[in-house]
Amino acid sequence: MQSVYSDNKGAPRVPEIRWDDIGGLAELKREIIRRIQLPLLNAFGFGQSGLLLYGPPGTGKTLLAKAVATEYQLHFLSIKGPEVLNMYVGQSEKNVRQIFERARSAAPCIVFFDELDSLAPNRGRSGDSGGVMDRVVSQLLAEMDGLDESGGIFIIGATNRPDLIDPALLRPGRFDKMLYVGIHSDRASKLGVLQAQTRKFELRENGRELKRVVDRLPENVTGADLYSVSSNAWLNAVREVLARHRESKNLNKDFSVGEEDTIKESVIVELRHFLDAIRDLVPSVSDEEIERYNRMRTELSST
Ligand SMILES: Nc1ncnc2c1ncn2[C@@H]1O[C@H](COP(=O)(O)OP(=O)(O)OP(=O)(O)O)[C@@H](O)[C@H]1O
Ligand SMILES: [Mg+2]
Repeated sequence: MQSVYSDNKGAPRVPEIRWDDIGGLAELKREIIRRIQLPLLNAFGFGQSGLLLYGPPGTGKTLLAKAVATEYQLHFLSIKGPEVLNMYVGQSEKNVRQIFERARSAAPCIVFFDELDSLAPNRGRSGDSGGVMDRVVSQLLAEMDGLDESGGIFIIGATNRPDLIDPALLRPGRFDKMLYVGIHSDRASKLGVLQAQTRKFELRENGRELKRVVDRLPENVTGADLYSVSSNAWLNAVREVLARHRESKNLNKDFSVGEEDTIKESVIVELRHFLDAIRDLVPSVSDEEIERYNRMRTELSST
């Protein structure tokens, strides 16, 4: 467990996700850029310390945080909430302390706390006997409050359960700007996501087919739902190429090493591949859940 944790902590690195890989969240991208650019221009004196991305699972929160790091060529420390927790007394707080030590030595950098809810469920309510959560949250608060404005450390959190997060973490100077990352229900944003996800595909109709794909999609889909459509469409196309390949060689075996690239190059994705993929699609976020998120959103924006 400990070694998994150290591996994940690894050396701070810049992940390879670009804005181009993210579709349909134009407004949000602009807002994030605005939030981050201003303090960056200000000689790395970050004005405020943290940004919290929240929204249903699979909507692109993790993706956005990674794109920010790539775009600004900043070191990126990614920490998943559960990785910080440790059964040994005191070790979890120590992990939090070490994260911030590493951040200070890697500055200017972004510290990304993914799945923040698992790290910081409401104090007192979590029901863990030793109060580990309490101590982790306290440590996190202390570290965030101790950040020097000119320290060049920008904190981004992500969660799909903002209702579970300790309100103390949302106060000014901490995760004080919350941005909602939502599902896609309008045509333009669905199209934008599909375009981003298929930008390296060879498409039979140069992308014009994507509009017709959008026509067939369920009303509400997440970026992850759309990703399953794109990737399954691609797989459907690959399967055909393989089948043709086998036939032409009159062989019943798979292609051999070295042929892989030739095969990849001859994959052309068509409308019907997408339509087949949509047939199996079950939207991952239900209407009730969308309602629940909308309510949370209203509540959070009024506080
Ligand atoms: N706007 C988008 N454009 C392109 N791809 C997207 C978009 N949103 C999501 N995806 C796809 O869905 C996958 C899941 O997205 P991501 O991991 O960022 O979701 P998340 O919001 O962090 O979910 P969770 O709350 O479960 O952590 C991504 O790897 C990507 O393939
Ligand atoms: Mg995520």
